[in-house]
Amino acid sequence: MYYPEELIEEIRAKNDIVGVISGYVKLQKKGGNHWGCCPFHNEKTPSFAVSEPKQMYHCFGCGVSGSVYTFMMQYENYTFPEAVRALAERAGVKLPEAEYSEEEKKRASRRARLLEVNKEAAKYFYYQLRASHGAVGMHYLEKRNLTPETIHKFGLGYAGKNGTELVEYLKGKGYTDDLIKEAGLANYSERHGMSSQFWNRVMFPIQDINHRVIGFGGRVMGDGEPKYLNSPETPIFDKRRNLYGLNFARTARSGNLIICEGYMDVISMHQAGFTQAVASLGTAFTQEQAVLLRRYTDSVLLAYDSDGAGVKAALRGIGILRDAGLGGKVINMQPYKDPDEFIKNLGREAFQERIDQAENSFFFEIRILADQYDMKDPEQKTRFHREIARKLCAFSEEMERENYLQAIAEKYYIESDSLRKLVVGYAAATGLDKPPERPRTTVQPKQPPEEKVKKAQKLLLTWLVDEPGLYERIKDYISPEDFTEELYRQVAAKLFAGLGTPGFQPASIVSLFDDPEEQRQAAELFQTTLPQMDTLQEREKAFHDILLSVKRSSYEYYTAKLGTDVSALNKVVEGKRALEKLAKTHISLQ
Ligand code: UTP
Ligand code: MN
Repeated sequence: MYYPEELIEEIRAKNDIVGVISGYVKLQKKGGNHWGCCPFHNEKTPSFAVSEPKQMYHCFGCGVSGSVYTFMMQYENYTFPEAVRALAERAGVKLPEAEYSEEEKKRASRRARLLEVNKEAAKYFYYQLRASHGAVGMHYLEKRNLTPETIHKFGLGYAGKNGTELVEYLKGKGYTDDLIKEAGLANYSERHGMSSQFWNRVMFPIQDINHRVIGFGGRVMGDGEPKYLNSPETPIFDKRRNLYGLNFARTARSGNLIICEGYMDVISMHQAGFTQAVASLGTAFTQEQAVLLRRYTDSVLLAYDSDGAGVKAALRGIGILRDAGLGGKVINMQPYKDPDEFIKNLGREAFQERIDQAENSFFFEIRILADQYDMKDPEQKTRFHREIARKLCAFSEEMERENYLQAIAEKYYIESDSLRKLVVGYAAATGLDKPPERPRTTVQPKQPPEEKVKKAQKLLLTWLVDEPGLYERIKDYISPEDFTEELYRQVAAKLFAGLGTPGFQPASIVSLFDDPEEQRQAAELFQTTLPQMDTLQEREKAFHDILLSVKRSSYEYYTAKLGTDVSALNKVVEGKRALEKLAKTHISLQ
């Protein structure tokens, strides 16, 4: 589907990039840019910059860059037309009736059908719970202290003992066996035909952040196995990238989010007013989920079970959160097993106290570690201290490391100077955790000639984007044909044409390319860092050098084509004249 260029530009202009990206990434204004932690790679310190004037983003850590369109494509995994549609909707721009490709139609309709059939199934379970034979389920939920409001809010339901009724019901609504199977709602076997996946269970619909049902968890009534049965992964149910309860928690505005282990924990916490609680989906907490949480908060509390498995899960979770640049704290649930039991026994105020007293994740790790050593044994005590030193080395920032060192030294009665010596020794042997090297994009020595040519062309485009006013002063010397790289030539043509028009924004150029790879490369053009220069003279010289270099390589390019391309002669003659003139001309940057 091709939308007209003007429409694509209108939609882009109506979606301010800072506004769009802040919906996904916490941004903070610093200097000319808005900064945040890059959503495309794991990092602790923000190197993801969003420029309002340029309407572009760039990550100095992993190098991604682009416009509001490429962001949506990368983040939401959209195709270009999908990104256009999503942003059009966001800005209230009406699109012409679309002509989708067959492929697109099929993909979109399959997903839509899967969402529909899940929604139907959720409705079915919901009514079963309220029907007379659903009394077992209702009774169970009541016994677990859930109010009718809570049961309704989470859309809880019941899957009865009849193994075929759901399938019949869904088929009656026009869904095929294939779709019902693909949604994970039923299985097929030669002997029994289609039979329900869920049977004699209280059903927990799992919703994405837009409240769409993407899968189910079902808890068995009584002591059957498994205790919880979950939908399999499907095209709409990615367990690594979703969290139970996030559709409510994302708007909780409590300043933090709480991760716990179970569906019932989430529900109990929400019922007690802690609507910031979420749980992973019957699998271990993932990096993707950490990145998802980072959209909404920078402070995550772990409310894992207080048993050995829960402690292990917490230690693992702390590492994942730390890698994602999130501060983590651990809520102590003792003497109860999990948040659900804690709240049932001690109530919400007591739980709030536990939140307030949540333990810094580093202290938690060290405390768990301490339990493994017998401090009366000098040998073991030394090993404990060495292990602390090793962990302290993970803090790359000296101030932070020192603060932790002192706190831990005090807590465990270790002489802080000795501990520091251990840390220094350990660091000397293995090196501290270093922050990722930022790629340097200024001109580097010893590049192959083509790279140098490209670099100069790239720098010139960047400079003109940064200071559009300069174009007036150099337009007699330079034309799009001087850019010998095909993509650069196209960008230059569009940029030069645009620079004359009021209200023109260079970011619009990026969206004119259909191919995502071209979009990326075009976007990159605008992100090359200009060499650091202090004085005006230095800047003027650098600019002049770049301009000359572009002009010279263009001259050489066309000279090489003289034998084969008639139009090249003109270019060469013109180019020679321009080069000579340019060499003698001072171009003021003031
Ligand atoms: P727990 O066994 O801790 O459940 O599993 P719970 O929430 O305390 O359960 P209740 O209170 O007895 O009802 C925590 C989570 O682990 C997953 C589920 O997502 C569950 O919510 N799980 C557990 C499974 O996926 N399968 C299982 O068999 C058990
Ligand atoms: Mn429980």
